[in-house]
Formats: sequence, structure tokens, C-alpha cells
Amino acid sequence: MTHYPESSVFLRKLRWEYPRITHGKGSWVYDDTGAAYLDACGGAFVSNLGHGVAEIADAMAAQARKLAYVSGMTLTNTAVEEFAAELVKLAPGDLDKVYPLSSGSDAVEAALKLARQYWAELGQPSKQKLVALTPSYHGNTLLALSASAREHYKTLYKGWLVDVVRAPAYEADALAHATDRTGAEHIAAGIIEPVRGSSPGAIVPPTWYLRCVRERWGKHKILFIPDEILCGAGRTGTWSALEPDNVAPDIQVLGKGIAAGFAPLAVVIAPTRIVDVFAQGSGALLHAQTFSHHAVSCAAGTATLRYLAKHKLVERCAQMGTKLHESLRSLRGLPHVGPIRGRGLLAGVELVDDASTSAPFPRALHVAETLTRVALDKGLIVWPNVGHANGTDGDLVMLAPPFVVTDDEIDQIVQRLGDAIATTVKQLSVRT
Ligand SMILES: Cc1ncc(COP(=O)(O)O)c(C=O)c1O
Repeated sequence: MTHYPESSVFLRKLRWEYPRITHGKGSWVYDDTGAAYLDACGGAFVSNLGHGVAEIADAMAAQARKLAYVSGMTLTNTAVEEFAAELVKLAPGDLDKVYPLSSGSDAVEAALKLARQYWAELGQPSKQKLVALTPSYHGNTLLALSASAREHYKTLYKGWLVDVVRAPAYEADALAHATDRTGAEHIAAGIIEPVRGSSPGAIVPPTWYLRCVRERWGKHKILFIPDEILCGAGRTGTWSALEPDNVAPDIQVLGKGIAAGFAPLAVVIAPTRIVDVFAQGSGALLHAQTFSHHAVSCAAGTATLRYLAKHKLVERCAQMGTKLHESLRSLRGLPHVGPIRGRGLLAGVELVDDASTSAPFPRALHVAETLTRVALDKGLIVWPNVGHANGTDGDLVMLAPPFVVTDDEIDQIVQRLGDAIATTVKQLSVRT
């Protein structure tokens, strides 16, 4: 185990004992003592192909030997051209231009800036406000954080954040009132997670919701930006999480699983009808980052897309997702297990003080954190989230195993999670 201050790394948590991982294979990672951990959340919803996939590593090495990097300012490169051409074949609606960046926050930031610049280029600079839902998470850079409704991340930076028009998640009337109050002539774009990620715990909207928002925003000229950083790239059993709702975005953002963790990669995808406005106007998107259009990251992206297609892994994600959600039913009825939900290989399991009312535990008990530690010590990696119930209280863990997860591994995930919940509840009742 590694901890602060013994390590030279500025660790993300300074009061946490970290297993030191040396390698991984499939759904498993291994630490320097040889202990095995079942990666039930693909790291942070990232390792969609599982660990240690030689084909992706080989494609990246081959690209790095040929060309690792040139600046997208003056040169394009064959790796980014190839990646974009493959990705647009999968993109919903008329999206056909790919802008690769490194992280989900980068992509959200760029997409929101793109929306504002678009209206400015069209001679409507007053269309600059953004709409977002509560709860939601869109990233941690300042504009993406402004759009997010994660108060514990925002409080300290309040003075640095911009005002965003807000409505409660998946309440269409409240959203319509919020945009009407502001006036569509002041709104550039709205950003919505089509299946909400870790902040509320894999909540799927009613089927009419996205269609209703899409139609209304189309009419009022508010750009519709689905944030598919977490739920896209196949994670919910379809390439785009919008597919079941049959709606098309104006601008889409993807990240996390797009290169399956082999490289930091995220993308903004826009249609020619929007990009052409820039081409006829100022000639460029003002957002710029050194590592956009990176050749090795894009080679990892292309190799990931090909691997997914070759092994039919998005279809497999849908099938194994059904198995996961069936297996998770066995946890219902266990003490303190609340709602369980999700789609595809994405699931959220809530832990509640009172299962009959879904009343949350008091935050001071740190239930989600304790459960995550207990699970880790039992060789199971899950993703904790807190605060979804009222901004402070609320404990849940998320599951997002690799698409290559086997039946037996799903059984192990559910069994280990059940054991970890039982142990956590026992520890808590000793403490309370
Ligand atoms: C829906 C959503 N959008 C954006 C982000 C930000 O991505 P990143 O952490 O790669 O910056 C995340 C990260 O969890 C996310 O879940």
C-alpha cells in the first residue's frame, strides 16, 4: 500500500491507502503484492475493452514510431484524419466534424465555447447563456464546472464561475419555464446527460423527455448538446445513449471510453451546418489546446473503434448489461440497499438509511466511502458518489465493468458487492 507523504506523487486523496497497481488483464488489475482486483467500474467508466489489450498498445506504438505529435495549428496528420473518418460513421444525425481533445472537461469547455462563438459569428452575440440540469456533472474546468451541479466542487470557486440557467433534471415543464424566463434570445446552448452518470447514479430519463427538449430547443434556436462523456461510446448498450430516444444532437461530446483508457482522449463532434458558419466567418474556433488532434491518442481511438466493431462489443455490452441488472436484483431487500438502476453495463446502487422512504444516511457516516474501501479490501473496485439526495447527503456506488466482462465475473461483482454492503452495514451499526 502507498500513502501520503511516503509517495512522491501528489496523490488524489491524502488520507487513503492506495494499492500500487502494476498491470491488468481483461476485467482484472493486479498490485505489486500480487493481489487481484475485479475492476467493476472500468476505473472511472473508462476501460471499456478491459485491460492489457495488445492490439491497441501495438497500434499506439506503431503510430508513436511513425509520428507522435505535430501541432494542429498548421498541420493535420494521418492518424487524426483516420480516426475522425471512422468516428463520424458512428455519429448520430448529421454530425460529421470531429475535434479531438484530451479530457471530458476539455471537450465540454470547447463545445460550450463553440456554441457561444457560433451565435456571435451569426450576428447574435447576446445568445450567450447556458442551460443545464440539477443534479448533473460536466467536468471540473471552470466553464464545465459552472454547468455542473456539484456544489461541493463549486463552493470555493463561486466567484470564478459563470451563471447558468438551471432546471431540475428530467422535468420538462420546469426546464421550459427556466428557458422562457431567461428568453431564448439570450441562450446559446443547453447541456444534458442523456443517461445521468455518477452524480445521481445512472438515472435513465423517461423516453419522451429528450425528444420533448430537443424539439423545443430546435424551435427556440438553443443548441442541444448531449454530454455523452460517460454514457456514450457504447456504455449503455448503444453507441450513442440517445439512440433509444431517436433524437439527434447539434453538438456531441464523448470521452472516457472513446480510447478505452489507452490514451487520454475526448472529442467534440459538430455538423458541417455549424462548422460552415465558422468557415464563412472568422475562419477558426477560438478554443485551442496544445494536445488537441494528437496522433498517438487518435491512433488509440481508431484501434478502439475497430476492436469494438471486430468483437461486437457494444452489442455484448447490451447483452451483459441485461445480465448485470438481473443479477443486481438479488441485492434488493438487503438492509439499507435503496434504488438500483441504469442501462447497459452502467448501474447505480444506492445505500439508504431507511429503504422504505429512501431517506439518506447522514453525510458524517461516510457510507459510500466506507463501502468503497471495504469492497477494495475484498478485491472489488467500485465508484463511490455522495450528495445526490440533497446536495450533501446521499450515498451510492456505480458499476461500469469492461464490455468483455464474463457471466462468472458479473456473478462475482454482485456477490462481492453484497458482501461488502453487509460488512459496511455491520461496521456502521457498531459505530452508530
Ligand atoms: C458526464 C460527464 N461529463 C464530463 C466529465 C468530465 O470528464 P473528465 O473527468 O475527463 O474531465 C465527466 C467526468 O466524470 C462526466 O461524467
